[in-house]
Amino acid sequence: CKGFNGLDKVLLRDPRGSSAEVYLYGGHVTSWKNDHGEELLFLSSKATFKPPKAIRGGIPICFPQFSCHGNLDRHGFARNRFWAIDDHPPPFPTNTSNKAFVDLILKPSEEEMKIWPHSFEFRLRVALGPGGDLMLTSRIRNTNTDGKPFSFTFAYHTYFSVSDICEVRVEGLETLDYLDNLQKKKRFTEQGDALTFESEVDKMYLSTPTKIAIIDHEKKRTYVLRKDGLPDAVVWNPWDKKAKAMADFGDNEYKHMVCVEAAAIEKPITLKPGEEWKGRLELSIVSSSYCSGQ
Ligand code: BG6
Repeated sequence: CKGFNGLDKVLLRDPRGSSAEVYLYGGHVTSWKNDHGEELLFLSSKATFKPPKAIRGGIPICFPQFSCHGNLDRHGFARNRFWAIDDHPPPFPTNTSNKAFVDLILKPSEEEMKIWPHSFEFRLRVALGPGGDLMLTSRIRNTNTDGKPFSFTFAYHTYFSVSDICEVRVEGLETLDYLDNLQKKKRFTEQGDALTFESEVDKMYLSTPTKIAIIDHEKKRTYVLRKDGLPDAVVWNPWDKKAKAMADFGDNEYKHMVCVEAAAIEKPITLKPGEEWKGRLELSIVSSSYCSGQ
């Protein structure tokens, strides 16, 4: 069906009430609701839905470059291209028989080949499980016919909706090494307890565990992020000054979001012709407080 500005979107619904919304523009998940109809992803009230600007919020896909780690525009081009529905995807190893899902595909146009001279097929499956879990599976294949490998970096740039950023804790990243984007990508080691927020944060954690928890104390809600094939994790909140500087982001909206991004950045993925890479993100929620080690 049609979304903002006439852009095509796909609605996924589970009979128990949870739902998700995926725009073909960007292959972008813009909404994920639990079975009470509560929105779990942050989407800015100022998001423009006007190509070529990427949609602010939800789950932008960063490919073939994360942030400014290369010569392309920030976060690459997948998030501001039109994807197509993939009617005949090759079989997926994961069982989706009890899930609502959609398959999308992105292939480079001549325009992309000029800025990133590689042929690829990027297949994205977005699935909603019966418990309301949201699963994104990306499969990227090198289809170069000139025998050349290519390398890329990648992230699911997930914006979680939180009631108050000052009441949020992220567990699973303590004691890990990270590169701080606010300090010229210098390397540090996280100290102490779980991560809390009291100013701008833009950190890339390296070699992270497959499970990270984002705890919203006020809402008594815990997001559990599970990932596969994605060793790194970026944590970002622009805080007040940067928020004001972004035209498509409300001045006070930083209080109600946090990005925790499952990513492969430090060691770019390299594919030879014919090779395929897979990266999976699974999001679920639990409504009581989270116990680490679960
Ligand atoms: C984060 C980066 O992933 O995305 C930040 O670490 C960046 O440095 C942020 O500011 C938002 O990027 P953009 O291009 O969507 O404004």
